[in-house]
Amino acid sequence: MAFKRITSEDISHFQAICGEGFVMTDPESLSHYSHDETEDLKFIPEVVVKPESALEISAILSYCHQQKISVTPRAAGTGLSGGALPVYGGVILSIERLNKILLIDERNYQVTVEPGVITQVLQEAVKEKGLFYPPDPASRGSCFIGGNIAENSGGPKAVKYGVVKDYVLNLELVLPTGEIIMTGANVLKNATGYNLTQLIVGSEGTLGIVTRIVLRLLPHPQYDLLMLVPFKSALQACETVNAVFTAGIIPSAMEFMERDAIDYTMKFADVQHLSIADDVQAHLLIEVDGNDPDQLFKEMERITEVVSLFDIGEILFAESAQQKADLWRMRRSVAEAVKSNSIYKEEDTVVPRAELPRLLEGVKKIGAAYGFKSVCYGHAGDGNLHVNIIRGEMDEASWNEVLPKGIRKIFELCVQLGGTLSGEHGIGWVQKDYMDIAFNKKQLDLMQQIKAVFDPNGIMNPGKIFAN
Ligand code: LAC
Ligand code: ZN
Repeated sequence: MAFKRITSEDISHFQAICGEGFVMTDPESLSHYSHDETEDLKFIPEVVVKPESALEISAILSYCHQQKISVTPRAAGTGLSGGALPVYGGVILSIERLNKILLIDERNYQVTVEPGVITQVLQEAVKEKGLFYPPDPASRGSCFIGGNIAENSGGPKAVKYGVVKDYVLNLELVLPTGEIIMTGANVLKNATGYNLTQLIVGSEGTLGIVTRIVLRLLPHPQYDLLMLVPFKSALQACETVNAVFTAGIIPSAMEFMERDAIDYTMKFADVQHLSIADDVQAHLLIEVDGNDPDQLFKEMERITEVVSLFDIGEILFAESAQQKADLWRMRRSVAEAVKSNSIYKEEDTVVPRAELPRLLEGVKKIGAAYGFKSVCYGHAGDGNLHVNIIRGEMDEASWNEVLPKGIRKIFELCVQLGGTLSGEHGIGWVQKDYMDIAFNKKQLDLMQQIKAVFDPNGIMNPGKIFAN
């Protein structure tokens, strides 16, 4: 793809739109916006712009559309598929200044926010009113709600409450050509025309820039209970997952962590007061929530009965809010802990829940055949397994040439098992070469035609989702 290089005239134009202080070309800013949390990838943009409104974004996009300048939208840069990487240079358009919670509508259980609000800030603001916004990616303390919309993020609570798409009612969107539209209406039911709202959710910033978001909310559950179950076999931990669901229980979280994931994290996050026996190979972290404590204790008892049918160690029942927070802190730190340990690649595999044991088994076999070690963890209750492939001692040639073949095998296995390439991290820059495994030519053509309708000059987050 050929895009126009940025000139001093373009910079002056952006300054006239956003103000001089919000157009950056100094090396430090360019370097800061050259990467997200994806592996060790870096692409230097030519300019960073920080507009403060939909109108300013509209002016920037309409100019870039006319000039054929590439634009990479950026939320907090916590993504794991390279969605925010400016792979063609050009403009980084940061939405960080659109950071207001506009309206908490308690009567309708809705909230209207700008995309630069930190997810946890939003969760805490609605919780103060007794309301609940469940999607909680591991990075919720720093990621923005706008990025969550772009990637259709999930997190531990998705197993009971669903992912971001299940909460988005309506969006204000600036099209790549500059027009501003609403995608739907602020209603819980909507059978009116094509569902543009859900087309935008998960479109990874390739169809426009979201500038206002209307989300539905729930009443906040009053109680939760948390248990950590150690297993002597990782495969048995995966088999246990479905046994809990088929016993009629829907936990509010059902997380899997392989032994290595816990070992790295205990060191990295300085986890105290947790000792793990030598023969433990994996853990399930299981939470139930609701408003009736007796009911929750009964559910925990039932889960205990089910997990006790497998080869487990001593179950830890979190006794205090602090202990729960520590266990969750450990779980949320896994990705960073693994990353700090070695260069790695992270795949976000997902299969129907009952196929999880087959997926884990297959990943390990493929690893053995292609010579790589993997550390697996993730949202077992969703059949969503994060596979971290560790570079370790692997030489350059194997890492660059043999490994992609192994990753292809993993994705082929996902699809054979009825699953797909990504559950919650997106395709972005790093998984796009594998899209042919999940979709045939007709399906990919349809998607690319949709892209062309929204973005005829292909300026919006180019290089993402599609191999060409
Ligand atoms: C997690 C992120 C990496 O589950 O999705 O920790
Ligand atoms: Zn995850």
